[in-house]
Amino acid sequence: MVFDVYTLVEAVWLILPAYAANGLVPLVGIRKTHPIDFGKRFYDRKPILGSGKTWEGLVFGIFIAMLISTVEMLAYPFLPFDASPVPLSIVPMSPVLGFLLGAGAMMGDAAGSFIKRRLNLKRGASAPILDQDDFIVGALLFASFTVSVKSSWILLLLIITPIIHLTANFIGYKLKIKKQPW
Ligand code: CTP
Ligand code: MG
Repeated sequence: MVFDVYTLVEAVWLILPAYAANGLVPLVGIRKTHPIDFGKRFYDRKPILGSGKTWEGLVFGIFIAMLISTVEMLAYPFLPFDASPVPLSIVPMSPVLGFLLGAGAMMGDAAGSFIKRRLNLKRGASAPILDQDDFIVGALLFASFTVSVKSSWILLLLIITPIIHLTANFIGYKLKIKKQPW
């Protein structure tokens, strides 16, 4: 069963460091940054990744994911496992897993930008689903090196993430924190 609260808790627990990394990485944009693709163009003469994918963002994203995973690791012994009527598969967190989730999220996000540039979409242009789920795919792929990732987690996260993302961005847009509502 995919759409139950147990799957949701297990999946969100695992992906939280990647969510934090992806959600906070725009903060690096307020300072001068250095593009991962060094401003270079691909064979199609379009930017490889574009100026929205930066070294600062990559490092910051990994750092945030490692920070959150460490907090989760420290919180683990205090989790109220008895409160659940069914045994939960709560993945034990570590800074190493946080590194994988953060690096995976940033790589997935960069792969999404690579695809967008090939489709002739400018930096910041909207690519529904791809924009929201690219980091999830990367994070879960990298996490699967050390964790057995349930297919129900993957499915659930791919479905709920665009919904959460659009809701959060719409609130940010209404609060005038974000320029576009996506
Ligand atoms: N960011 C960054 N480095 C990264 C990823 C993100 O600096 N590796 C910052 C950039 O300031 C970017 C912002 O986070 O503009 C939001 O990320 P995202 O929406 O993924 O980038 P876009 O600017 O929308 O560019 P793209 O069209 O390539 O997705
Ligand atoms: Mg974007």
